[in-house]
Amino acid sequence: MRTVFLKGRGDFTEWRDAARALLQADIEPQAVDWRLAGEATLLEGAGEPQPMPEPLAAAGKAVAVPAAFLALAQSVVCHTQPARFALLYRLLFRLRHERQLLEIVSDADVIEALRLEKSVRRDSHKMKAFVRFKEVPGEKGPRRSFVAWFEPDHFIVARTAPFFARRFADMDWLIATPKGSATFNGEGLVVSDQPAEKLDRQDVADDLWRVYYANIFNPARLKVKAMTAEMPKKYWKNLPEASLIPGLIAQAEEKVKEMAEKAASQPPLFHARLRERAATALLADPPHDAPSPTLAGLRRQAEGCTRCPLHCNATQTVFGEGPERADIMVVGEQPGDQEDLAGRAFVGPAGKLFDGVLSEIGIDRQALYVTNAVKHFKYEPRGKRRIHQKPNQGEIEACRWWLGQEVDLVQPKLVVAMGASAYFSLTGEKRPLSEVRGKMMSIGEDRRLLVTVHPSYLLRLQEGEVQRRERQLFQNDLRGMKEYFM
Ligand code: URA
Repeated sequence: MRTVFLKGRGDFTEWRDAARALLQADIEPQAVDWRLAGEATLLEGAGEPQPMPEPLAAAGKAVAVPAAFLALAQSVVCHTQPARFALLYRLLFRLRHERQLLEIVSDADVIEALRLEKSVRRDSHKMKAFVRFKEVPGEKGPRRSFVAWFEPDHFIVARTAPFFARRFADMDWLIATPKGSATFNGEGLVVSDQPAEKLDRQDVADDLWRVYYANIFNPARLKVKAMTAEMPKKYWKNLPEASLIPGLIAQAEEKVKEMAEKAASQPPLFHARLRERAATALLADPPHDAPSPTLAGLRRQAEGCTRCPLHCNATQTVFGEGPERADIMVVGEQPGDQEDLAGRAFVGPAGKLFDGVLSEIGIDRQALYVTNAVKHFKYEPRGKRRIHQKPNQGEIEACRWWLGQEVDLVQPKLVVAMGASAYFSLTGEKRPLSEVRGKMMSIGEDRRLLVTVHPSYLLRLQEGEVQRRERQLFQNDLRGMKEYFM
């Protein structure tokens, strides 16, 4: 067994020289024990490690390796994983006979090397993003001096420092880290692999970072998980702006509401285009009451519906969708803002909640025919926003004809009415939902009706115990569907 001692602080040449000598002497990877200087060896107490073979490069026997391996090895060497030197030597040894080895992405050694390389690359990227210079007070000459403290995961100072030399060429700086430091004075960059002492300075630049961060923080785009993946918490202690983050997150919801209230403008551009298209359909296929014998035909007919005034302001008819012969039909109230723009039922927030509950109880939405009691969006414009308005009895009655046709064509065994409008449209009865909710009733000979709340009702409840309980009840109601699948 040969024991090789390295400093192992990200210096590629020390590994390369040792690996070259071993390879030229044809020493198998399993016969090498790679150690950090000062570390105990595998064979300690069991005899002396053998001396390294003399490198033969000087004798003209150079080792040729693919350029891709060199680049990979230069990164991997910077990782802190103790097994990295052995891994790289194993790859190098195999490459002599397996020239395409690096292209075999299922090979365990290749996978591991790429994993280490990615981690080093990420660490270097984080250093570029999160180093925060603080000015060192002194004479204000043409060049000002700055220092920064950073805590990298790996030995990346030497490979990342040239970026700072290019970016901050007009100032003198020092970046100190527990894994080495870099200094720049306009003439040259000096890198040391010696651990530096922690620097703990406050300066006015900290306030500037905080102002900058508060300004670029967009509460409407807040995704805490993505944010902490991009700016991991371990870096926060050295980022002056990080002290703002918890407060900004806590206020985000309130801020988004404020932004929505203030906004005032036109509906989206394509809204007008869709309405134009619906008007053209109306001219080409004027409304008539002879029901189409197919769902596709019925849907086309409904595009030109003028049975009530709601078509005037809606973008388009939102017709039902699902299998032509579904065992279960689900009926909501009317399309909302997002459904009106997309032309599809239950794709907005209520639809997402509905989808979530379905998947919790193992029902595939694709197996259901999903539609609404009213096929046009009823709203009141308020600035940029279109505020949902409940359809009145006349509007529901005008639209009942379509729902009746849908039921006749789909022939569901079970119809689920979500909310009072759907219940009224399906039965012509007005009863408090609490009286009929959760019960299985008959509508027609071979058809059952199940009534439950509308998912928007759950969205309107405040987050907390009541909302959780109501959601659970809604889930229990929908569970009743399961026995109606073939
Ligand atoms: N609410 C409904 O009743 N139907 C939809 O399609 C969307 C929201």
